[in-house]
Amino acid sequence: MKQQLEHIRQQAIAALNEADSPAVLEDLRIKYLGKKGELTAVLKLMGKLTPEERPVMGQVANAVRNEIEIKLEERKAAVNAAVLEKKLAEESLDVTIPGTPVIMGKEHPMNQVLQEIKALFVSRGYTIIEGPEVELAEYNFTRLNTEEGHPARDRSDTFYFTDDDSLLLRTQTSPMQIRAMENAKPPICILAPGRVYRKDEADATHSPMFHQIEGLVIDEHITMGNLKAALITLMRSLYGEDAQMRFRPHHFPFTEPSCEMDMQCHKCHGTGEVDGQVCSTCHGEGWIELLGAGMVHPKVLEGCGIDPEKYSGFAFGMGLERMAMGRRKINDLRLIFDNDVRFLNQF
Ligand code: PHE
Repeated sequence: MKQQLEHIRQQAIAALNEADSPAVLEDLRIKYLGKKGELTAVLKLMGKLTPEERPVMGQVANAVRNEIEIKLEERKAAVNAAVLEKKLAEESLDVTIPGTPVIMGKEHPMNQVLQEIKALFVSRGYTIIEGPEVELAEYNFTRLNTEEGHPARDRSDTFYFTDDDSLLLRTQTSPMQIRAMENAKPPICILAPGRVYRKDEADATHSPMFHQIEGLVIDEHITMGNLKAALITLMRSLYGEDAQMRFRPHHFPFTEPSCEMDMQCHKCHGTGEVDGQVCSTCHGEGWIELLGAGMVHPKVLEGCGIDPEKYSGFAFGMGLERMAMGRRKINDLRLIFDNDVRFLNQF
């Protein structure tokens, strides 16, 4: 029996010394120390020994068990350390490898121009406000001195929601004039950008959805001169000191007198022709209409509880896409809405 124990001891130590993974160590533990292991099998035979032999063999068996246990722990520690070492070596990080570039998006060219326009007006004391795109006909037309039956209210131009034509997609940002006057007393000085909708066929300068920026200034002694100064300052700041623009008399129900302002076409430089062909951007006009403007009609002021004897004001409503076209030399307004990255990445 002593020989058997010695044999187990030698075999176990030799096997443990060879073991190089946690799995092999665990197998050896079961093989030698487990309940059905070799050592246990030998110990079961102890009953057959004489009472004198039993304690002696018991001691030897315990010594062998202890030795195997200690060796097992030693090897476990060594193998685990080796496994960790290997893992660290394999997973090491090469900080000199170039990273994957992150492609940054950027602001849409039209929004860039919107920010420029807002910044200029804010620096001059205007407050930016916003209002609903689904608007009451009352605000979009009636209170802007555009009575029922007026051609501007025609169903062929306006997206109505209801059969009685009382609710619509706003056709202009001018209802924001009424909302501003309802919410505050003069002096009023606001800028109201937003989307507007008209049943227009899309072409180089038209789209059924586009953006306008409404401006409204009301105080004592406001004149058409203040209006022109505000717009000329804007044009020069966006297009440079030599920006070419013109004012034309016009009619709007809610301003009197009224005008429109055009900028010289950036594509044909006012000639109306490119390479002997009619300029496709301005349709041969040489000018691109940018905005409508005028002195707020006394009836509109009165309707909002503002005394036209004491106060006067100007308003303008400009097309943002067309402002952006001139600013960024874009020849077709539809490009602004296509969202083709090859186009957008140029700005
Ligand atoms: N709302 C007008 C339009 O869309 C423009 C305008 C605004 C005219 C303010 C006068 C005053 O054509």
